[in-house]
Amino acid sequence: MSFQVAIDGPAGAGKSTVAKIVAAEKNFIYVDTGAMYRAMALYFLRNGIDGKDEAAVSNACRMLEVTISYQDGVQQVILNGENVSGQIRTEEVGSMASATSGYPAVREKLLMLQRRLAREADVLMDGRDIGTCVLPDADVKIYLTADSLERAKRRYKELKEKGVECDLSEIERDIIERDQRDMTRELSPLKQAEDAILLDSSHMTLREVVDEIGRIIDTALSPADAGGRP
Ligand code: DC
Repeated sequence: MSFQVAIDGPAGAGKSTVAKIVAAEKNFIYVDTGAMYRAMALYFLRNGIDGKDEAAVSNACRMLEVTISYQDGVQQVILNGENVSGQIRTEEVGSMASATSGYPAVREKLLMLQRRLAREADVLMDGRDIGTCVLPDADVKIYLTADSLERAKRRYKELKEKGVECDLSEIERDIIERDQRDMTRELSPLKQAEDAILLDSSHMTLREVVDEIGRIIDTALSPADAGGRP
């Protein structure tokens, strides 16, 4: 049986940064499910599909195939045979992913792939619905969050470092809007699973978050030594 770690939480909480480090340290495969929704969003954008038009989006889902592969341990997202990993990190793709990820046709497309990956290897999977829907029996579930201003500040710093002109309050407004959409959609909304451990990283360093998640995983892996699950 593979060991499954689910990390869910809102945009900008640092899930992928943290998950990548923890997965490398624990020798797990890291699966970034947001990247899969982004690859689908890229297809919709490239093909001029309106994200609000559910019928058009659902129809387009039949024309696309998303898979993933690993290069030197780093996840690559493949859209209809093309590696699109370098093209999915824009705000435009992110908002299209958020706008379309509530549609059943979009979610169904990725659910089987995500579950298969989790059966094949020890995984650390991050997203919005991993603990609640994709892997409801995951060995460890973490809900990683941070307050919206803190998340906006992190994003602001990232963009500034890349030389992108941006405005902090505008970034925070976008984050709040994205949270609202992800949390209130009907299908697989973002929410903390009942058995997930809540981790608020607002006042924690990256290293502290990584260490805390590492400890939680160790406890679940060796229950006898660490007093975790039998
Ligand atoms: O984590 P991210 O910003 O790369 O995700 C982009 C969008 O994809 C996010 O706004 C909502 C959607 N998503 C989802 O619905 N379910 C997931 N498991 C992961 C992402």
